[in-house]
Amino acid sequence: MLEIKRFGEVESTNDLLKQQGENLPEGTVFVAESQTLGRGRKGRKFYSPKGLGLYFSILLKPEISGEEALLLTPMAAVAVAESIEAIYGVDARIKWVNDVFVDEKKVAGILTEAVTKGNKQTFFVTGIGINIQNPTALMPPKLRNIAGGIAESCEKKEELLRKVLDTFFYYYKNLTKKEYLDSYREKSFLIGKEIFIPDRGEEVYTAVGIDDSFGLIIENKSGERETLFCGEVSVKLT
Ligand code: BTN
Repeated sequence: MLEIKRFGEVESTNDLLKQQGENLPEGTVFVAESQTLGRGRKGRKFYSPKGLGLYFSILLKPEISGEEALLLTPMAAVAVAESIEAIYGVDARIKWVNDVFVDEKKVAGILTEAVTKGNKQTFFVTGIGINIQNPTALMPPKLRNIAGGIAESCEKKEELLRKVLDTFFYYYKNLTKKEYLDSYREKSFLIGKEIFIPDRGEEVYTAVGIDDSFGLIIENKSGERETLFCGEVSVKLT
């Protein structure tokens, strides 16, 4: 089922797989040495320099509803966090909804995109970028204190790729059973922290839990709760 195709420098493995995915089987994985236009959520750049990280995209053709497709990203986050822990022996946390943190720094991000052409079956591309070594020297100053790395060298890169793919497809076989939900909750980086929602201004909330649909349950200072299903939250620095 797994077919790994390797590339040197590409613009973005997600874009390449979205272009070619229609004629390729599920389980095709595009791995690149580097990306010149690596993308994250909200059109942000994902720095993908040669020799420092693992950048790949997975082609998925499940028969699922749009709502079920929203499970792909949190599931991938669990696969990435568990694999980083298994290979490097560090504690990996998931920042709702799609980022993985080690030592309070972002080391990985996930971007799932859907492609629908005419009346053809929709397919999905889940892209995963992992900073194995710290790439911050190459980044603009304002991003340097957000991103981090996991190790001093990339020698375990192949082992990490295999582990992420094995774990990803283990959970994917029973995607809707959500076997990965407990792990997502345990590894949740935000729970108990004070956060704010940049789109809403200064109001401070506490992140109190993750619901069964991977929504983030937050509580305001008056004790009122609500659940967020998408968007961006930031940790309040004390
Ligand atoms: C994020 O941080 O919001 C998600 C980052 C996803 C990056 C990966 S790297 C492989 C694939 N190709 C891309 O252009 N993006 C994803």
